[in-house]
Amino acid sequence: MSDYIDGFSGPFRAASPPAEAVALLAASCRTWGELADAARRCTACPDLVRSRSTVVVGDAPRGSRLVLVGEAPGAEEDLSGRPFVGRSGRLLDELLAEAGLDRGEVAVLNVVKCRPPGNRTPRAAEQANCSGWLDRQLGILEADLICTLGLPAMQRFLGRALSLAAARGRVHDVAAGRVLATYHPSAALRFGPRGAPRAALQEDLRTVAALLAQP
Ligand code: URA
Repeated sequence: MSDYIDGFSGPFRAASPPAEAVALLAASCRTWGELADAARRCTACPDLVRSRSTVVVGDAPRGSRLVLVGEAPGAEEDLSGRPFVGRSGRLLDELLAEAGLDRGEVAVLNVVKCRPPGNRTPRAAEQANCSGWLDRQLGILEADLICTLGLPAMQRFLGRALSLAAARGRVHDVAAGRVLATYHPSAALRFGPRGAPRAALQEDLRTVAALLAQP
C-alpha cells in the first residue's frame, strides 16, 4: 500500500517524498476518471487530510479550450466537491458571462485540491505534493489557454520573479502551455465593485475571450 494514496501499490510505495509518489501515480493515469479516482484517495498532506471533507478534483467539461486555475477550495467547495461555487465562484461566473465565456465550457481547477484549514494559503510543500495531479490534468485536457487566478496560481506557472500586477493580462509561453495571469475573484470582492482588481479581472477575461476567438 502506498503511504500517500490509499489503495495503491507498486512503485508509488517506494517513491518519497510524497510529491514524487503523487507525480508517479498521476502520470500513470490515462483518463480524467482514473485520475479523479486516484486523487480522491490522496493522503499526501496530513493537515489537509484532517481538514478536508472531500477532494475537489475540478470541473473538466469535454473539449474545454480554456482552463482556469485557482488556489484551493474554500468552505463551500469543500462541502459540494466542486470548484468555485462560493462567493468568489459566483462573481467569476458573472464576469465570465460578461466576457462572453460559458462556465459550462471551461475547465476549472485549483493548485491544491483540498481545503486548507481556515482557508490559509496552501504551504509550499502542499502545493508541491499536489503538483503531479495538476500537471496530469493539464496533459489530459490539452487546452489552448491556461488562465491563473491569483498569486499562488500565477507563481505555480510563472515563478516568483514577476508581480501579479506586472504579469497579468498578457500571454506567457511556458512549459505548461500558454498562460495568462489575472487576479483572484476574492481580491475583486475584497476591493469592491469599483476596485482595481475587479476592473483588471474583467479586462483580462475579455482578453481571454478574444484570444480564444482567434483562429
Ligand atoms: N478559491 C479558489 O481559489 N478556488 C476555489 O475553488 C474556490 C475559491
